[in-house]
Formats: sequence, C-alpha cells, structure tokens
Amino acid sequence: MATETPHTNPAVDGSELIRFDRVTKRFGENTVLDDLDFSVSSGKHVTLIGPSGSGKTTILRLLMTLIKPDQGTIKVDGDYLTHEDRGGKLVEAGEKHTREVRKKIGMVFQQFNLFPNMRVLRNITEAPVHVLGLSKDEAEERARELLDLVGLGDKCDAYPTQLSGGQQQRVAIARALAMRPQVMLLDEVTSALDPELVAGVLDVLRDIAHTTDITMLCVTHEMSFARDISDEVFMFDSGRVIEAGPPEKIFSEPEHERTREFLSAVL
Ligand SMILES: Nc1ncnc2c1ncn2[C@@H]1O[C@H](COP(=O)(O)OP(=O)(O)O)[C@@H](O)[C@H]1O
Ligand SMILES: [Mg+2]
Repeated sequence: MATETPHTNPAVDGSELIRFDRVTKRFGENTVLDDLDFSVSSGKHVTLIGPSGSGKTTILRLLMTLIKPDQGTIKVDGDYLTHEDRGGKLVEAGEKHTREVRKKIGMVFQQFNLFPNMRVLRNITEAPVHVLGLSKDEAEERARELLDLVGLGDKCDAYPTQLSGGQQQRVAIARALAMRPQVMLLDEVTSALDPELVAGVLDVLRDIAHTTDITMLCVTHEMSFARDISDEVFMFDSGRVIEAGPPEKIFSEPEHERTREFLSAVL
C-alpha cells in the first residue's frame, strides 16, 4: 500500500457527481433506456444489478461517451457531458468540452483492454503523459505507487501476456486510477476471469473502496462484493430503476417481485 493517499477529490460532500435527466437511448426499434432519471452522489459506491440486457452497460457507455443519448441530458460534477450551455441555450457539445468533462471518469472493462505492445508501467503512464501532460518521471512515480496499491509492484517490466487475467485486470484498475478520475466505472470486471482469480481482484477493489474517496459505479454479479462495498444498490429492469436502496434492504427485503426473482437466480 502506498503511503500517500492516491485520491483526494476536491468535492466529497455528497453533491451529485453523476446525474441522468430523462435519458432515452434507443438502438433501432429497441428502447434500451426509457426516460431514465438516475444520480450518484460524490464519494458514494453505487452498484447496478439486474438481468442481462436491462441496460446497465449502456449507462456506462453513455458516461464514457462511446454512445450518445437520443433524449435527455447527463451531467458530471455539474457540467453537461454531451451538451453545452451557450447563453442559456442547450446545444450539442464540441469534442473539446466533452473530452474535458470525461477526464473526470475512469473505466475498467470486462476484457482488460491493456495495450499488448507496452510493458505494464507504460500501460499506466501513457495517458497521464499524453492526456494530462505529466512528465515521464511524475507519471512513473504515480504508476509505481498504484502498482503497489494493486499488489503488482514487481511487474513494472512485464508485458500483459506474461500476466494472469487477474493480474491484467489489476493493471487495468491501476491504469484507470492513474488519471485521478473522480468516478470509476466498473463493468463486470471479474466476469472474464477464471474463478480462482476473482477474489484477488475483488480484494483490490474493496481496498480502494474502503481507503479512498473515489466515487464508484459498478455493474457486478458478485453479490457479496456488492453487499460489502455499496452505499446504494439500483435494481434495473428493462431500462428503468425498479428499486433502489442500501444493500441490506435490497438483498434482504426486496419489495419487487422482479428483484426477488433476479436475486434468487443469481444468489
Ligand atoms: N451497439 C448496440 N447496438 C444495438 N443494440 C445494442 C447495442 N448495445 C446494446 N444493445 C442492446 O441494448 C440492450 C441493453 O444492453 P446492455 O446495456 O448491454 O445490457 P446489460 O449490460 O444490462 O446486459 C440489449 O437489448 C442489447 O442487445
Ligand atoms: Mg452489460
């Protein structure tokens, strides 16, 4: 564990860090998100659960601006993500505006997506150097601290293919953190791992959840992990939040029949 706290976010005061306002997203005839309102407060750990195809990944992809909403707005830390306020009128944002707002967001994918031709250290320093303008030395110092944090301080010079899936995913977590995002998006980050490697990755994420003030928005089928780290759990069904609350409530006394069915299928 690094001695210096790797994340000190300016505003961990319970203000809204993410806000979806009446967001609709369609793929052809398929309305995946339907007039969705949804928010995550700064510093909180929110978990999205729900059946496959209910729109969980779509939410994260909208936040990464990999796709755009058909209707509605998304705000991150008070700024519109894909819109700009020009003299009181809301217009589609330019690339530069969107890129600035998106810097506040880091994402870890199911399939690690490391750069295969780069050693571990460079996988982590690449974006801080090229996007944030850190010097190579500063970026490497930060990368080494983060590799210690994820328990891979001795793997700086390895190539991704020389690592296990669990180790690769821990590098991907360090890479996301190196950008000092205010919020980290985690989309089923252990689903592609061999079962014996899942616990190591979840332990790292638990550690980050408990020792930093970074906001987390997780999609996971690991219900005991969700119970451990979540401040709030959102149950999704067909693009709507049908039930939300603290994990004790959602997992022990769900109100909706759909939530009960879903939990009995996955628990
Ligand atoms: N790029 C896409 N093109 C067409 N349909 C998509 C695309 N991405 C997602 N979908 C559809 O949107 C729905 C929700 O998908 P997704 O958000 O991935 O669900 P989840 O992550 O909850 O399993 C599914 O019906 C899926 O087939
Ligand atoms: Mg998904």
